[in-house]
Amino acid sequence: MKSMFNLESFIKINKCLFPVAGYGTRFLPVTKAIPKEMLPILTKPLIQYGVEEAMSAGMTTMAMVTSKYKQAIKNHFEPHTDIETSIKGTAKEALLDEVNYASEQCDFSYIEQQEMLGLGHAIYTGKPLIGDEPFAVILPDDLCTSNGDSILKQMAALYVQHPDCCIVAIEEVPMTEVDKYGVIDGKLLKGSTNAYQVSSMVEKPSPEEAPTNLAIIGRYILTPQIFNVLENTKQDKNGEIQITDALMTLAKQGKVIAYKFEGIRYDCGNVKGFVEATNAFAKSEGLI
Ligand code: G1P
Repeated sequence: MKSMFNLESFIKINKCLFPVAGYGTRFLPVTKAIPKEMLPILTKPLIQYGVEEAMSAGMTTMAMVTSKYKQAIKNHFEPHTDIETSIKGTAKEALLDEVNYASEQCDFSYIEQQEMLGLGHAIYTGKPLIGDEPFAVILPDDLCTSNGDSILKQMAALYVQHPDCCIVAIEEVPMTEVDKYGVIDGKLLKGSTNAYQVSSMVEKPSPEEAPTNLAIIGRYILTPQIFNVLENTKQDKNGEIQITDALMTLAKQGKVIAYKFEGIRYDCGNVKGFVEATNAFAKSEGLI
């Protein structure tokens, strides 16, 4: 008999958290006055790509952990009546459609991170915006594309099958680059070719210390349990609270899955990756 209980709607993830308080120092001088999340790939800022990916995965609340220097992000998702009046009735009107659509369909909420104490601290700062429910995290520096479902949508589908678990997106990177990432160790889940039960994880290991070359990229689905764990996670040697360390606590309880996604990730957190993304997008638009 078909069950009346629809698991998928019961554990639907509604909220996506964006840790966007960082200074973006790798992109100075432009990031002195412009948030790095507002840097555009073609005409669209990184944060908007992130919001659109969250929407594609069914999320409608965008929770921004921000800072007093990042007002431009808030402005981007609010109406700008002077511009709208000036382009009304012209072909340019359509250029604002996507961002206006996101603003109409979603609730945007903001909280300021007062101190830069690491990604774990940023996520913990977002707790009042999330409450007691599972949520996604997007690091907009990691710009992701795919031919089919977006990466976050792929992860949300996996979460439905493992509602007790946190899910991290991973990809293989050259061993020489593992020290830029959180790196996981684990075994493929029974019958799966792309989902691992994580047994261990380490933040930015040297190539010698790294258990694998499976690197975490900026997409997470987290259960609200993570907040209690983060509260008790100690600062690392640089004084930062790492999400990787908090997830390690849950991995020991068998509650973390790593998902090798289908798609491409551009590391727009550095100039080289940013240029690669720009070129790829320009090519796909037939601009070069
Ligand atoms: C953060 C995380 C790291 C992860 C990376 C993905 O590092 O701490 O585990 O692999 O994001 O982009 P960051 O790039 O903020 O130094």
